[in-house]
Amino acid sequence: MENDIIFKPLQFRNLTVKNRIFRSSISGRWDNYDGSGTQARINWEEKFARGGVGAIITSFVPVAIRGRIMPNYATIHCDERIPFWRKVGEKVHEYDCKLILQLSHSGRQQDIGGVENDGLKALSSTSKTESFHGLLCQAMTLTEIKETIQMFADGARRARLAGLDGIELHSGNGYLFNQFLSSGINDRTDEYGGSLENRARFLLDVIRAIRKEVGEDFHLQFKISAIDYNDAVIPWEKPGNTLEESVQICKWAEEAGADAVHVSVGSLFPHPLNPIGDFNFEVITKTYDTMLSSGNQTIRNYILFRYKLLNPIFKFLWNRVKKQLPPPAFNGNYVSDDEMRKLLIENQGRNLLSSRAIKQAVNIPVLCTGGFQQGSFIRQAIDDGYCDGVTIARQLIANNDLPKQLQQGKDLPDRPCTYCNKCLLNVIENPLGCYELSRFDNDYEAMMAEVMSVFHGDESAKHNTEVPVLHV
Ligand SMILES: Cc1cc2nc3c(=O)[nH]c(=O)nc-3n(C[C@H](O)[C@H](O)[C@H](O)COP(=O)(O)O)c2cc1C
Ligand code: SF4
Repeated sequence: MENDIIFKPLQFRNLTVKNRIFRSSISGRWDNYDGSGTQARINWEEKFARGGVGAIITSFVPVAIRGRIMPNYATIHCDERIPFWRKVGEKVHEYDCKLILQLSHSGRQQDIGGVENDGLKALSSTSKTESFHGLLCQAMTLTEIKETIQMFADGARRARLAGLDGIELHSGNGYLFNQFLSSGINDRTDEYGGSLENRARFLLDVIRAIRKEVGEDFHLQFKISAIDYNDAVIPWEKPGNTLEESVQICKWAEEAGADAVHVSVGSLFPHPLNPIGDFNFEVITKTYDTMLSSGNQTIRNYILFRYKLLNPIFKFLWNRVKKQLPPPAFNGNYVSDDEMRKLLIENQGRNLLSSRAIKQAVNIPVLCTGGFQQGSFIRQAIDDGYCDGVTIARQLIANNDLPKQLQQGKDLPDRPCTYCNKCLLNVIENPLGCYELSRFDNDYEAMMAEVMSVFHGDESAKHNTEVPVLHV
């Protein structure tokens, strides 16, 4: 294990990460309604730092209130947020873990816009209503584009002032950048729409503006949906960007000053390939009501999810695009459990072919997301040049200490993630955590204890556990 590539440091232009396992962006609604941070978020991030990941990419962190996906996610839209992010960074640094802030803007893809956005249409590259939930939007003017570019530059400045280790631009998965990049979504006729060069302009302008604001020596990476599959759930939508187009965008982003690329897939939420896995109707019928007021298609969807007889229609749409995927790049080592082997083959490393195509075209390190949790598989992906490191979300929710387990010689944790996506479907309404009861021997209370474990107070509260007596 001494020469294990997984645990060799990864060197970026301005940043060294101690190993090749990054916590991919995820968050629960840990924070205050206004986007100020709480101890629960610090406790959440600490779990992964303690578990051995080399770096944590935070959740979606909005650079503007108008660009958030839901309330109760910490923002970076004003200088007052700097001290909180400093605290998060300091906590994970205690474990020699780096913190990369995911600078984000939802555009029209808002799960729950929150009351501040209630009377406003979302800003986007387009005025065309989002196809799945029916979220309303209006195309940004050139002035609004300029203002938004500056918001990202300000966000990067704040991240740097907070002592964090870098930033990631959330330019994949259907959010604002993707709404500009994608030929399936961007219908502009000005210099920010039309040709690939024009569609890439917003992302490249932001990269250049950030470099101007924070200098050359602050780590900057970007997430990209290598293939959009914009027609994944709604078959009559345009498919969007191809891998070849994304490769070109990555080359331009490198020239503009990006230090790394993070490869994802999909340009709409929910997307059957990101995260890849199951779709659970029992969970969605309970949580989807939270989104009913967000768009104008949510009742249609609610009925599709709610009535069992209609479930096969959605299931068909959900699984349709998975069948179009090329076969897995390779398979991991033999796993004795047949069901688990099948799950690993279906879900692990399904973005690796895209990642390799991008890696062959750029000189900066490439990170790949999607299903990783088996040591031998991750090792081969890096050794064979598919990527330089992997980012992991759900499989780390299931086993926060996955890196430590791999380092100790395990190939797969005893209770691996089953890719059931119950964590994802709960996140709109409930605290984030693993909701796969079978992983807790069907003990609901044990599962809840783990899910709720982030809500313990700060250090001073822990020392003061005496219950005061009420004198009447
Ligand atoms: C609950 C949940 C929340 C997520 N939130 C974000 C996010 O805020 N930003 C982002 O870029 N990706 C987000 N993702 C996608 C993950 O970062 C990751 O790319 C995806 O889950 C595939 O990786 P995995 O198979 O390791 O889970 C989220 C995924 C889940 C399950
Ligand atoms: S609920 Fe648990 S097992 Fe299911 S996908 Fe999420 S982390 Fe994995």
